Parts: sequence; C-alpha cells; structure tokens
Amino acid sequence: MTGTEHADTGAGGQLWAGRFSTPPAPEAHALGRSLHVDVRLAPYDVAASIAHVGALQRAALISGPDAEALEAALRSIGEEIAGGTFLFEDRDEDIHSAIERALTHRLGDLGARLHAGRSRNDLVVTDLRLWLLDSGATLRHASTALARTLIARAREHTMTVMPGTTHLRAAQPVTLGHHLLAHAWALARDLERLGQWSTRTSVSALGAGALGTSTLGLDPSATAASLGLASAFTNSLDAVSDRDFVQEWLAVAAIEASHLSRLAADVARWTDPAIGWAELDEAYATGSSMMPQKRNPDTAELARGKAARVAADFTSVTALLQGLPLGYHRDLQEDKEPAFDAADTLALVLPALDGCVATLTFDVDAMRAACAEEGLYATDLAEALVRAGVPFREAHRRTGELLKRTAAEGRGLRELTAEEWAAFGVPDGASALDPDAAVRARDGAGGPGAGSVQMQADALEALLDGPLTRP
Ligand code: ARG
Repeated sequence: MTGTEHADTGAGGQLWAGRFSTPPAPEAHALGRSLHVDVRLAPYDVAASIAHVGALQRAALISGPDAEALEAALRSIGEEIAGGTFLFEDRDEDIHSAIERALTHRLGDLGARLHAGRSRNDLVVTDLRLWLLDSGATLRHASTALARTLIARAREHTMTVMPGTTHLRAAQPVTLGHHLLAHAWALARDLERLGQWSTRTSVSALGAGALGTSTLGLDPSATAASLGLASAFTNSLDAVSDRDFVQEWLAVAAIEASHLSRLAADVARWTDPAIGWAELDEAYATGSSMMPQKRNPDTAELARGKAARVAADFTSVTALLQGLPLGYHRDLQEDKEPAFDAADTLALVLPALDGCVATLTFDVDAMRAACAEEGLYATDLAEALVRAGVPFREAHRRTGELLKRTAAEGRGLRELTAEEWAAFGVPDGASALDPDAAVRARDGAGGPGAGSVQMQADALEALLDGPLTRP
C-alpha cells in the first residue's frame, strides 16, 4: 500500500472532512494522534469490524457477497499490519481510522459502508475489552505458573523450620513451606479477582454508536455473540462512557504487582549474605561493575520496584475518570497507555520472579540455626502456663519476667535448671525451646506445621486445577 490511498476528501482526508474546510493544525494533529499506542489494537479492531459487517448484513444493509468482500479485505489489512507491510499514513489519527481508510481505498464505495451505525466510541471500547481479555489470559497463565512454583518449593520444605517475624524481628518459628504458601494464597486471590473481572468485562459495546445507538436496526446481542463476548451493552451511553473495566483491570494488576513486590522483598532479604537463608542462582543475580564480591538481587529488586509503576497506572486512569461527565471525551484516549503498561510490566515481572524463586537454593541449616533465638519460644512458654490454668495476661507477665531475669543474669533460657523450670510452672520448659516441637505443636488448620502445609498445597493445587485458571 502506498501514499496514494488517500480518500478523496477536502480537509486533509480526516474522517470528518465533510463539515470542515481546514485540516488540523500539525501540532493539534500531533497531540491527537494515538496510532503509536493503539496500533496494538489492530487485530481486535479487525475482529470487531468483521463482527460489525455481520451486523450490517443481518440488518440487510449489505449483501452476502459484499459482506464477504469486506471481511476478506479486513483480514488482509490485519495480516499486513501484523506482518509489518501495511503503510500507515501521517493523517492516520488512530488504528481505527487507518483501517477504515485502507478499506475504503481498496473497496471504494463498499468500504465506505462499513462505518454505518458505528462510531469509534463504541469501537474503541470493544477493541480494548477484547485486548484486555486476551491479556488477562496471559496474566492468568503466568500467575498460575508462579503459584505452582511456590507450591512445588513449599512441598520441598514442609518441615524446614525458620524464624517467623513480625516487624522483621524474631516472633515464632514457622516452616519455609508455610511462608512460601502465604505468597501462593495471595496469587490465588489475584487469579480469582482476574476471573471476576473477566466475567464483567466480556461485554460488547458495538451497536451503541456514538452514544445513542442508531436507526439502522442492528442487533447488538448477535454482534456480541459473534465476537465470543458474553453479552451486549444494556445502556448505550454507559457503553461508550464506561471505563470501569480498565480501572478494575488496573486495580487487579496493581494488587497483584504489590503481592509480587512483597515476594520479591522476601527473596532479597533471605538472600542477603548477612542473613544467608537462601542463595540466588547466578542467572537471577547481578554482579557489580566495581565490587568483585557482589551477587546482587536485581531481579527481585526490579520485581519490587515495578509495583510502583503499576500502581501509578491505576492512579492515572482513576484521575482521568473522576469528574468526567458521561459521553465520550477525548480524555478517554489516555486510558490505553496505562492499561498496556500494566499488562507489559506484569508480563515481564512474573516469569523473571518465577525463575528466581524456582532456582533459589535454600540454606535449611542457616534457617534452623537462626531458630536458636530463644525469644521465638516465649509465646509457647506463656501458652504452656495457660494450659496449666494461668490467665494469659499473668502468663505473659511471668514469661516476660523470666526473660528479663535471665538476661540480667547473663544467662539464656537453655541454662535454666529443672528446678527453675518447675518453679516457673512449666516443668518441661526446656523441651519447648525447639523449633521442630514448636512447629509440630501448630499443625492445626492454617498453621505452619507440616500437615497443614501439605493440606494447603493440596487445596491450592485443586484451586489452580479448577475454574480459577480458566478464561
Ligand atoms: N483514538 C480514540 C480513543 O482512543 C478513538 C475514539 C475517537 N472518538 C472520537 N469521538 N474522537 O479514544
């Protein structure tokens, strides 16, 4: 295709040239042009246009052979765009106008029939819904893969003890499996949100026109069905104004990105040589250009840092929408870059973090050694007193006093004599200072014990094998 594909119009060949005698000022055109962004919608614009051809045919506005010719031309335009041979023109404002221009050039009058009963307002919404639904499938796939990696790693470590922390300070012993599955559960909720969003997003706006449908007797439900979407719009003004589906997509993405950032933060922390609970595979680590000893967690840090831009994408569309009266406004063109950016960012982060977690070498001895910290068992000692009938507040105070006294004496709990334990009220206190015993004692549902971790892993796998991971 060449620059000769100009439609024969007066004012610079724009779609609205009939009413205008002056083409857009170059700087206004430059501001308004979104082709570099929305070219990604091309396959969906072709699909939506073919669906609209079907609507025109069903309404007897075009003949069967004409519909076939339109469809064939649309398909070949789609192929040229995908193959990089399509020649865009400077006046192509966006992907919709580029495709319609080419169609009209190729088919003349017949191409000019396509836009009947349709506006870029209902078209762009339908295109973007289709794009996001496909992108949602990619996100679902990558999120499921990471969740499965976490489950597999957790199954290796149902009995691996480690200090659980609050405020990053030693709190109570847990298992590594339990900690890894906590991240997997967060991903399962992300998948659930994604599925609910997909259901709400599977709506076609075609037939809504610019804002108030058309007089042409089109059947929006049939158009929706031909696009594989669950339903058609129920209010044409809502159909062209609504960007909830973008905002919600970004909310889902931002929540997931923050989950990934928290997983990444754990990876970065555990692999800090000062902690030494895990080691990064070299393929997911970076050296320093100056300091030869370094093995830096850049993959994890970027997975953590990228959450900021996805949150900004959500904020950007939320700010765009609030206060905007109903109906189409050109402001809405700004919805696509954040939506694409969030999808691209998660598509980059998820596989990298997945590989990083899959190849971590855990140092189970270092984790066990860190469980020597006796503060980890203080709550269990207080609970032993509770089991012996002491009110918890009293048990908490007595245990605190024991810790204070031994610290003042420069001794550890492990140095207490049998008599001292008996005086404290927990004769077998010494045996409580053991991470395996502490974790075994917490094997109830949802707890860090090995049985619970196995049950959680089974439950998560059943979830991932079920509807959660289907479109
Ligand atoms: N490029 C536009 C967008 O993304 C398409 C819709 C244009 N509609 C209009 N009334 N100017 O929003």
